[in-house]
Amino acid sequence: MCGIIGVVGSDETLATLLQGLQRLEYRGYDSAGIALVRAGHTWRARTAAGTESVAALRVECEAAPQNCRSGIGHTRWATHGAPEAENAHPHLDCSGHVAIIHNGIIENHAELREELRARGHLFTSVTDTEVVAHLVEELRARGLELLDAVRQALLRVRGAFAIAVMDASEPDVIVAARRISPLVVGTAPGVCYLASDVPAILDRATAFYAVNDDEIVRLGPEGFRAVDLEGAPVRLRQLQIDWDLETAEKGGYDDFMSKEIAEQPDAVRATLLDRRRRDGTIAFDELRISDQELREVRRVVLVACGTSLHAAQVAKYAIERWARLSVDVDIASEYRYRDPVVEIGTLVIGVSQSGETIDTIQATREAQRRGARVVAISNIVDSSLAREADAVIYTRAGLEVSVASTKAFVAQVAALELLALRLAQLRETLTPEEIESLLEGLHDVSGHIATVLSRRGDVDAVAAQLLDAHDYFFIGRHVGFPTALEGALKLKEITYLHAEGYAAGELKHGPLALIEPGVIVVAVTTDVNMHEKILSNVAEVKARGATVIAVATDDDDQIDAVADFVVRVPATDPMFTPMIDIVPLQLLAYSLARGLGRNVDRPRNLAKTVTVE
Ligand code: M6R
Repeated sequence: MCGIIGVVGSDETLATLLQGLQRLEYRGYDSAGIALVRAGHTWRARTAAGTESVAALRVECEAAPQNCRSGIGHTRWATHGAPEAENAHPHLDCSGHVAIIHNGIIENHAELREELRARGHLFTSVTDTEVVAHLVEELRARGLELLDAVRQALLRVRGAFAIAVMDASEPDVIVAARRISPLVVGTAPGVCYLASDVPAILDRATAFYAVNDDEIVRLGPEGFRAVDLEGAPVRLRQLQIDWDLETAEKGGYDDFMSKEIAEQPDAVRATLLDRRRRDGTIAFDELRISDQELREVRRVVLVACGTSLHAAQVAKYAIERWARLSVDVDIASEYRYRDPVVEIGTLVIGVSQSGETIDTIQATREAQRRGARVVAISNIVDSSLAREADAVIYTRAGLEVSVASTKAFVAQVAALELLALRLAQLRETLTPEEIESLLEGLHDVSGHIATVLSRRGDVDAVAAQLLDAHDYFFIGRHVGFPTALEGALKLKEITYLHAEGYAAGELKHGPLALIEPGVIVVAVTTDVNMHEKILSNVAEVKARGATVIAVATDDDDQIDAVADFVVRVPATDPMFTPMIDIVPLQLLAYSLARGLGRNVDRPRNLAKTVTVE
């Protein structure tokens, strides 16, 4: 997964590209590059300096030619070829005139490379992308204009791409195309833009358009026109964008992660807003699926990855308890390869903050192919997942930039629990009074999260005493289990420390052998129904020398006797605890990561949106 940006017709080409690349770094930051076109020449700069790649590129660009009115830029997350400058984009053809940037994977690159080599093309990188530059070169040599050359080149490739191509001999044109990987087009008077996402060009373009799969767009100062793979004209759909730029900035916080942790009360509140009609029924305006269809659901399957998977695991408990439906949760990258059974009445819910995670998209596509109805839970309006699904519920967490997902998780749990209550309402598995009381509880969550945030100092104090620790186990029962999994994921991804999440009852079946002095056990103990059992599990690890941090409710008067450190949270219905209990676990990971000097927003080896399988 990578970020791409392009601009044509601008007096501020270089500044636009560098600013856009900075905003796209969340998509990958192994290397970065720019190509500018002017007077029949292509000028290129590339750097491979890890998280400093765009900063280094800025320095390189001090030598860039002046007054270039068009250019393309790329920030890379390496797939084919090491993260070195020679594999950084843009890639050029043999003549050095054609420049290309690409997000995705060209699956048949090896056979194309062989074929092109046999015809005398010279390759300078080991990337899959470079083959497209040489294909376009050949087609241009036959006299095709750039749009047709790119279109015909794409007929030869298999795989996923958001691509942008320039040719120095057609300097006022960029051709962009998309299959699977995200791509938007923007316009302003006399200027056209393209980017992997809207924020990259948010303060430059005044109108935004979605590019669909297998559409190719020719951008010039006069505007753009789009065709499909056969060359037939297509219209791009205009997007309604109501983000302001501040949403994409840090808003006074040291980093995006702490800003996003602090935004969680709003994320939950916004996600729950306007979801009830006057008659008490729960309604999702954007859900394009009828009540009757929801009533006919017989089984639910949730597919997701990472943090979204943990939100899905919470939803399993809620849907089963409230709507009395059988629920399975699948790791999206496993789902499509295990020949899943999709019976009549199966509802598949794809959960993804970005809506662009290819594993989740492929899983929901597989489910659709097998006859399931698919609902997307997405934080990004018009994301690929949202567009392909039969129905969508948007979380309203706002743009999440930090690689470690935080506010998206609480918003996903809120949306999924609301959907669980809607299913219960339709299936009449809860009384109107029960639903009313649960809805009230759900609406209180936002305030409880704010309370936990106001106690942030308690967590920092615990973290300060643990900077030498290396091994963490996070344990919980019932919905405390997915909370523990999510707490462990946060810790490992931003501190690089060993952390495992376990169902507390499962410890005695093996992992207990690893517990010894020096190991930290973080126990989620807030579920009133499971309290005695989890206290026994805490006693088991204490007896073996572990240091215990307990997340406990304000009214728990037993926990101090068994835990070394206690972090308090307000008590609620157990089903809502993941949205509250995760907050101290996020803060613990954050505080430790800062104490260890880690880059919390951009942890090593990761990227915000994973658009490769
Ligand atoms: O955009 P998605 O929700 O589909 O992303 C899924 C995972 O890649 C994501 O949650 C990842 O695990 C985060 N880095 C976790 O913090």
